[in-house]
Amino acid sequence: MTAPSAPPSSATDLSPAGEAPDTRALPARPMVAHPAATALAGTIAVPGDKSISHRALMFGALAVGETVVEGLLEGADVLATAAAMRALGARVERRAGRWHVNGVGVGGLAEPEDVLDMGNAGTAARLIAGLLATHPLTAFVTGDASLRKRPMGRVREPLERFGARFVLRHGDRLPAAIIGAESPVPVSYTLPVASAQVKSAVLLAGLNTPGETVVVEPKATRDHTETMLQAFGATVRVEKAGNGRRIALTGQPELKPVAIAVPGDPSSAAFPAVAAAICRGSQVAIRRVGLNSLRTGLYDCLQEMGAHIEITDRRTEGGEPVGTIHVHGSRLKGIQVPPERVPAMIDEFPILAVAAACAEGETRITGAMELRVKESDRIGAMAAGLRAAGVAVKELPDGMVVTGTGRPPAGGATIATHLDHRIAMAFLVLGLASAAPVTIDDGAMIDTSFPGFADLMRGLGARIEPA
Ligand code: S3P
Repeated sequence: MTAPSAPPSSATDLSPAGEAPDTRALPARPMVAHPAATALAGTIAVPGDKSISHRALMFGALAVGETVVEGLLEGADVLATAAAMRALGARVERRAGRWHVNGVGVGGLAEPEDVLDMGNAGTAARLIAGLLATHPLTAFVTGDASLRKRPMGRVREPLERFGARFVLRHGDRLPAAIIGAESPVPVSYTLPVASAQVKSAVLLAGLNTPGETVVVEPKATRDHTETMLQAFGATVRVEKAGNGRRIALTGQPELKPVAIAVPGDPSSAAFPAVAAAICRGSQVAIRRVGLNSLRTGLYDCLQEMGAHIEITDRRTEGGEPVGTIHVHGSRLKGIQVPPERVPAMIDEFPILAVAAACAEGETRITGAMELRVKESDRIGAMAAGLRAAGVAVKELPDGMVVTGTGRPPAGGATIATHLDHRIAMAFLVLGLASAAPVTIDDGAMIDTSFPGFADLMRGLGARIEPA
């Protein structure tokens, strides 16, 4: 059986040129997921990878000539990046489903006339801070209520070493004024937290800086910035350094435009994959999912929990491995998540906690303190929501212990999602495998990363509806 793929813009109303609606004006959208009466079945494709989509627009904006992007994620986060790149002088247009970016060249960004509003998008805010830091301009950056709570000191600190100046609110929060360096100096920086966003912000600042910018990461994090900058023609040397990597970028390259085919987002595929794993008898295949090993920790965990997962059609597209993920409904058991795996599944803990709630025994998550500063405090939000749905959970400072019985959780609760798309989707998936429906207070934020989520899940047989 084949369910239709999500049309790229099915839940986000775009103007023909690809301009985003103002997500801050959207009313809350409560939603409910009912226990799955029948198994989930079908073959689907999920929208494009969010990390790669942001980078495709940003690097295209810095190349000389036209970058064409196919399969761009048309979620609100990426549309905020598209708008910001336009405000900085690049031409960014959507024509016949493809995105065309005409760049200004490294060093060519113009001072934006108005505040750059990055909505809910932490990746966009932090990477753009890196770009602005080494251009001689003054820019103002803000975001929605969730983004305005998130720490920006982690990028301010290394970016000021290039010569930029930041004015932030108390606690290093947005809105920010960023005054870019007139004569940036290259930096060598060891990341204090395993963060691809901070690594990328430093490398992007290094683009318009003469000499060599170096980032050392004690633990390897997603490497899309390095891989894509190489494809655009920059010189980026990556070496192993202990358990992590040393990345050296030669500044002021001329970036050449490339054709980019964005793979399906493994972080979005995680939701139908776990839904299939926890709903008995399900058989779901997800086509053309990105399988970069720095992104696929969740799938390793699911296999260790006893899920039947098979990967077929493995190939490399645009420098990234992709394949079809097949998941069958399975009896799951609890596991201990190795802390060294955390960076490779940093966005997947909400949905892992749902798999754990449906498994038999204890699942222990540690070493994941970073979850406290995502779109919400994901440890607090998951623990509170799971408890409300009748699941035994113990909150730890850097993780949680979830104890499942192997039987359906009670459900029957209304969950606070705290403007967090992944908390929203995780609890809708929990509702499919619970004894009673699960309601979420607001599903509007799902459009930031996974437009068409509810339609796609309905295509597999799930009952997810407006509440
Ligand atoms: C991302 C990096 C991760 C991840 C985010 C996307 C990126 O954040 O959580 O969703 O594209 O670089 P951190 O770098 O803060 O861990």
